[in-house]
Amino acid sequence: MNILILGSGGREHCLAWKINQSPLCDTLYIAPGNAGTRQCGQNVDLNILDFESVKKFALDHNIDMIVVGPEAPLVDGIVDFFRQADTAHIKMVGPDAYAAQLEGSKAFAKKFMEKYQIPTAAYTEVTSENLQEGIRFLDSLTPPYVLKADGLAAGKGVLILENKAKAVSELQAMLSGKFGQASSRVVIETFLKGIEFSVFVLTDGKEYVLLPEAKDYKRVGEGDTGLNTGGMGAISPVPFVNDSLWDKVKKKIIEPTIHGIRAEQMDYKGFVFFGLINVEGEPYVIEYNCRLGDPETEVVIPRISTDIVELFNALFDGTLSSRTLKISPMAASTVMMVSGGYPGDFEKGKPITGLSNAGDVTIFHAGTKASGEDILTNGGRVLALTAMDRDFRKAVAKSVAAAETIQFEGKYFRKDIGFDL
Ligand code: AMP
Ligand code: GLY
Repeated sequence: MNILILGSGGREHCLAWKINQSPLCDTLYIAPGNAGTRQCGQNVDLNILDFESVKKFALDHNIDMIVVGPEAPLVDGIVDFFRQADTAHIKMVGPDAYAAQLEGSKAFAKKFMEKYQIPTAAYTEVTSENLQEGIRFLDSLTPPYVLKADGLAAGKGVLILENKAKAVSELQAMLSGKFGQASSRVVIETFLKGIEFSVFVLTDGKEYVLLPEAKDYKRVGEGDTGLNTGGMGAISPVPFVNDSLWDKVKKKIIEPTIHGIRAEQMDYKGFVFFGLINVEGEPYVIEYNCRLGDPETEVVIPRISTDIVELFNALFDGTLSSRTLKISPMAASTVMMVSGGYPGDFEKGKPITGLSNAGDVTIFHAGTKASGEDILTNGGRVLALTAMDRDFRKAVAKSVAAAETIQFEGKYFRKDIGFDL
């Protein structure tokens, strides 16, 4: 099969690395990819939101399957677009636009959870039409206050505020366009106190297989301080996710979600990412994502020994329910090396050295690009360094040692991934 992966981050490099190991994969393309994905296949310079060019490339290169990495093309309807007669034979791994609203609209996701009785924070949906109702809801809550832009806001659309007057003014600012169209509708939620973790399934919209769980570290600073980022590192498995918690996650969250997807007749052939929080032993959904996480992918996928292309094929031939994943009992850690200044302003184009003697890690490129013989930084998150060990602390130590060896001007990384486990 000829396979095209869409995206350019650490998640896509990791998917490319895994897909490239499958005997079912003939030619692998990554659009646009990065300096790392070149080691697994051919990079293609495409704008993945320009569906016409993706289609032209796919037809010209006899693509049999497209694996969509990030959420934007899914929310924009790439799966729907490829239903046209001349591309309907291409297996699209990812949900259609309607189903992708589970990530693309917080209000849609909350209504879905309410309908299928999936545990999540109590909420109210506010637009400029019912602002007073929103303010009354804030009055009924105790701080902190959680305000979420309904639409995609590049991971910045959630505000957590201690002060009610500030919450009211931020609510007004959001409705007046603080996050553009994405915040013309706002979800206000009760604050849940607990520890977060993530679980993932691959579903064909009816059945599902369970992937390993993970915990990512979103704050830029050690000890979970400072600004939110896309993710500074991750661990899998998560030690506190014991059998009893897994049992509740399956019965109270995953199964009702898959039931809802089936009942709503969603066209969903892809990953569901459940962002969960453990509140005194009870799991609640913080958010759904309609794709794998980054950097969670870089610890989840390396623990799976099953052929991933075989699994993707099972989404389309109705055999998913007969699949079980082979999962390594080893722990995986990943540490993100980022550009100085991230998640604020940072510079790009810094030469990276030390990649060839980084030790016992798999290096997944996130924001890099090739320039002749050189590999240059090309984003906030630059490299994800994944290590495996029986003991997750030893895995983290290997990731950290590699981050100390690899050099680029302004490099930064967290040394304390897993500190709270
Ligand atoms: P989201 O974009 O929905 O994942 O929200 C970003 C982050 O905000 C989450 O990872 C949580 O840390 C936090 N958060 C979101 N909703 C809540 C909530 N209801 N209670 C506590 N924290 C939350
Ligand atoms: N690491 C969080 C995400 O991918 O959304």
